[in-house]
Amino acid sequence: MDSILVRGGGELNGVIPIAGAKNACLTLMPATLLTEEPLTLTNAPRLSDIRTMTQLLQSLGAEVSSLQGGKVLAMSSHDIHNHTADYDIVRKMRASILVLGPMLARDGHAIVSLPGGCAIGARPVDLHLKALEAMGAELDLRDGYVHAKAPGGRLKGAVVEFPIVSVGATENALLAATLAKGTTVLKNAAREPEIVDLAHCLRRMGAQIEGEGSSTITIQGVDRLGGATHPVVTDRIELGTYMLAPAICGGEVECLGGRLDLVGAFAEKLDQAGISVTETERGLKVARKNGRVKAVDVTTEPFPGFPTDLQAQMMALLCTAEGTSVLEEKIFENRFMHAPELIRMGAKIDVHGGHATVTGVERLRGAPVMATDLRASVSLILAGLAAEGETVVSRVYHLDRGYEHVEDKLGACGARIERIKG
Ligand code: EPZ
Repeated sequence: MDSILVRGGGELNGVIPIAGAKNACLTLMPATLLTEEPLTLTNAPRLSDIRTMTQLLQSLGAEVSSLQGGKVLAMSSHDIHNHTADYDIVRKMRASILVLGPMLARDGHAIVSLPGGCAIGARPVDLHLKALEAMGAELDLRDGYVHAKAPGGRLKGAVVEFPIVSVGATENALLAATLAKGTTVLKNAAREPEIVDLAHCLRRMGAQIEGEGSSTITIQGVDRLGGATHPVVTDRIELGTYMLAPAICGGEVECLGGRLDLVGAFAEKLDQAGISVTETERGLKVARKNGRVKAVDVTTEPFPGFPTDLQAQMMALLCTAEGTSVLEEKIFENRFMHAPELIRMGAKIDVHGGHATVTGVERLRGAPVMATDLRASVSLILAGLAAEGETVVSRVYHLDRGYEHVEDKLGACGARIERIKG
């Protein structure tokens, strides 16, 4: 297993290109299952999760060609000969559950492995299943798989009210509703930019959708969808992650492709902490205003609130802030696994249930640390950039799921970072 070696110290100055969004691409790719026509995604990120979704779609019979070094995904599903998403792929990546809605909508049947838990929480899929049942699906859960059927081969429009906001359940229902007979209304729907991007792509394919980005999305089902070419929206989590690099180390970094509307609540918190964020023609320029970062309190919420996927990275910044910060994680039940690793680097963090209290110290010290999940891994790298001495982050396969060439992007801004092949 590879590790990443970071030698701390020194400001970061330069330019970082932001890739297409992993979490948009993972819900856009299953849309190919809704049509026999070609669906092409541009600005796709080059990540292991995308390769896993590619394998899954190919196992179902879809053709997926990765062009231009992986930045273009040319897909075609005119011959879906297998409707079973196997556990051995689904367990590697939970987003695999997003093939359920499209397969059910187009072909009237599907068998998809339940994804199982993951490090940050139980992450059930009950809301996905309830939404599809509301649309007429008959579901039989056995042997760890969901056996799904649409009576008469077609789902029907329904009013679906989500008891809590769920990104994935909203996406599965939105995908399925495009081909259902009649009108579907999704209430308390997630408002993430990735869902807005999915709606834009589906509309290009001929879907009739209104209200994406708000809590109520209305879909008028159609009989068939056509092909399209669609650019994947910028990755707001990668953007936020790299905005934190100059915040932690000092210096000034311009994030190409960055958009303030994608990171509103996060940028406000950075401003409160003493970090300047400026819109440029090419993206967002970030610099520490002057002196030490100031402590701020953070509560994670569904979009447009502070993203849970930036909580670990924000904690890395607050470890050396002036004062005490309280981070409240309200989305997942176990998303502070980066805290013990940061404590190994000299951070002062007390975790009680969903709250972490961080008392800022002058400087962290490099140490060997272990990545436990995707976003925790990059928070340890950020912490290592400003720490005194060397930090070795092990198990970076977590990192490669969501960040392409992190050592190249940070290295180009002056970071002393290298990958150690393991
Ligand atoms: C998506 O996961 C993202 N993944 C996650 O990013 C992100 O953290 C999360 O949304 C929240 O923004 C992808 O888009 C591939 P949810 P998802 O359904 O859809 C509970 C990353 O680092 N819930 O919004 O699984 C769930 O347990 C990843 O890129 C149910 O109870 O998240 C959680 O507590 C990590 N039943 C809460 O809702 C369900 O059926 C929010 O989960 C579904 C979810």
